[in-house]
Amino acid sequence: MILVKSSRVPGFYKMSISERLQFVKDFADLTDDEVALISKCGRLSVDLADKMIENVIGTFELPFGIAVNFLINGRDYIIPMVIEEPSVVAAASNAARIMRDGGGIFTSSTQPIMIGQIQLVNVVSPYKAMFQILSRKDEILKLANEKDPILVGLGGGAKDLEVRIIQSPIGPMVIVHLLVDVRDAMGANAVNTMAEAVAPYIEKITGGKVYLRIISNLADRRIVRAYCRIPKDVIGEDLVEGIIYAYHFAASDPYRAATHNKGIMNGIVAVALATGNDTRALEAGAHAYACRSGIYKPLSVWEMDENGDLIGWLEMPMAVGIVGGATRSNPLAKISLKILGVKSASELAEIMGAVGLAQNFAALRALASEGIQRGHMKLHARNIAIMAGAVGDEIDKVASEMVRLQTIRIDKAKEILMNLRSRK
Ligand code: MEV
Repeated sequence: MILVKSSRVPGFYKMSISERLQFVKDFADLTDDEVALISKCGRLSVDLADKMIENVIGTFELPFGIAVNFLINGRDYIIPMVIEEPSVVAAASNAARIMRDGGGIFTSSTQPIMIGQIQLVNVVSPYKAMFQILSRKDEILKLANEKDPILVGLGGGAKDLEVRIIQSPIGPMVIVHLLVDVRDAMGANAVNTMAEAVAPYIEKITGGKVYLRIISNLADRRIVRAYCRIPKDVIGEDLVEGIIYAYHFAASDPYRAATHNKGIMNGIVAVALATGNDTRALEAGAHAYACRSGIYKPLSVWEMDENGDLIGWLEMPMAVGIVGGATRSNPLAKISLKILGVKSASELAEIMGAVGLAQNFAALRALASEGIQRGHMKLHARNIAIMAGAVGDEIDKVASEMVRLQTIRIDKAKEILMNLRSRK
């Protein structure tokens, strides 16, 4: 019998760190070694770090948290998140709890197709070059696929080719798009290798000159979609209306849309960091996609259905992998993937879309009601207390006192800490 484990954990935030870790261990069937690795500091050894990037002098740590309560496509997930900002993990868990009342979050995704761009210049007749390239499509795809038999064996590889002519201030350019199914990888290595491999042949058949051969981070062939319904009885009609107003503000104003999307990326980037994925590629893809109409737009939509319930929708590129790069070399990223229990990059991408939608809902819910500062400040106060030198149980004492006094500043924290210590 398969035991279905629930991610719904009331009061997870009130548990001690070891109680939380025990829950995660049971939920994800972690081994004792994996648990020890999570709780140990300095788990990314300097030696390993030295192999990941250049000029290493050490490692740099960030908090690693777990968002609970997620129900995605009818399955319970707990979400590893790495982030420095207070409130994000709590907000995601809270939003996921509320979203369960409408059946959770439902997701879908396209095939994991990434685009490799090849920039061809110095052609006298761009349309002739386009014809020459398209008529040799099979040969070009074959050349590309010879570079990655493993990917091809897994059902991936270069699948198609498109040619665009763009006008630049220094003349027309022929841009070849190699469409590569990268399966469970983020895909940059495979795509860049293939783009470099086919470039000489493209030069040969067109007589032009190739300069750039590189992946496009506007991954608009690798899209995730997430949907949720939040019953009006759960959050109240006022909030349904407030969130819809918040969405239309973002849809009508790029200044607001940028912040709206930043809230979505809070969740997505945190999961990307936890799983060793490339956060810059995700950010670049998300914001370029938000701007694809020529005007910067929110990545999510909020509307009301015929019953007055709140409907949330998110659509965006999600170029993430579960093989290769830091997803495998960073030991904690491997554990994060195990905690998620994902079997494919598409599943990870869909979860990240769901987290983005939940994070967005949490932000809009707070913004359309009491505002974000109260909750935020409580957590921020702890950071200030630590900066002021508080340790152990002093941290919560100093933080609570600052919140009570509604003054969350480092000088105040130092003063409270001094008084606290003098009373001991
Ligand atoms: C803060 O990190 C994120 C928010 O600003 C997002 C938003 O305004 O929607 C709260």
